[in-house]
Amino acid sequence: MTEVAAGTRTVPTIAELRAFVAERRAAGASIALVPTMGALHDGHLALVRRARELADLVIVSIFVNPLQFGHGEDLERYPRTLGTDVAALAALGVDAVFAPTVDEMYPRGREGGTTVHAGPIGDRYEGASRPGHFDGVLTVVAKLFGIARPDVVLFGQKDAQQVFLVSRMVADLDLPVRIETVPIVREPDGLALSSRNRFLDEAQRQAALVLAESLRAADAAAADGPSELLAEGVAAFGDHDGVSLDYFVCVDPDTFLPIAEDYRGRALVLVAAIVGSTRLIDNAFVEVGRDD
Ligand code: PAF
Repeated sequence: MTEVAAGTRTVPTIAELRAFVAERRAAGASIALVPTMGALHDGHLALVRRARELADLVIVSIFVNPLQFGHGEDLERYPRTLGTDVAALAALGVDAVFAPTVDEMYPRGREGGTTVHAGPIGDRYEGASRPGHFDGVLTVVAKLFGIARPDVVLFGQKDAQQVFLVSRMVADLDLPVRIETVPIVREPDGLALSSRNRFLDEAQRQAALVLAESLRAADAAAADGPSELLAEGVAAFGDHDGVSLDYFVCVDPDTFLPIAEDYRGRALVLVAAIVGSTRLIDNAFVEVGRDD
């Protein structure tokens, strides 16, 4: 275990984190966990700040989880910035940074161990483009719950389908944790913060604004109904060079199924697009239909 600044430990093993948690739990501390893959930005730091408000002890995990990357995805090029991440977390008074190796987390190897299956919603949207992604996410998240034994776990609304599926796993498997969701953090021009934004060159970054624009267009048309909001959202993509739309859907936040034409009320619009070679996602709540 390494002390980075007063009170911030970097913990590389499960046994050490368990011992630390057990000691602090015995002293009556409540525990918040913020699971991350590192390359931290202000969106992650918003989760940490909220965690600080909610619990006595804040643990942040930094682990680029190979199980959630498909073959040919960006596992190798996913940014790894542990030193600067730990410094940023120390400045926020995080108690422990859990940064295990792949062997520590998966001693039986990538294929050899028990995994969690996300169920049918895990095969839609992100899951349709990234088969097995959510099984990998839920598997590592379930392991982190078992290791850190948190009272509350914080996730960003940016990964809306992930939050939905983690919440569903907690309900379906009766896991004793509370999930807290923190709103999307955006750049002043609307771009949702993402660790992958660093892959965008200037022109691509400009082009990537179309995701947020499409959500605004959908919101503006939402009062007219589901097909109007979808048509306006997709139209925003027009002929953006170098941007390829993957999906643009509007779902019922309670079921994560696409809304029907007669749907009225709060709904969630999800968009994914590939900008250059970088896959980006975004989402926004909208109010569908008029009151009349
Ligand atoms: O959202 C992420 O960064 C990852 O999917 C998570 C939740 C840390 C699991 O690896």
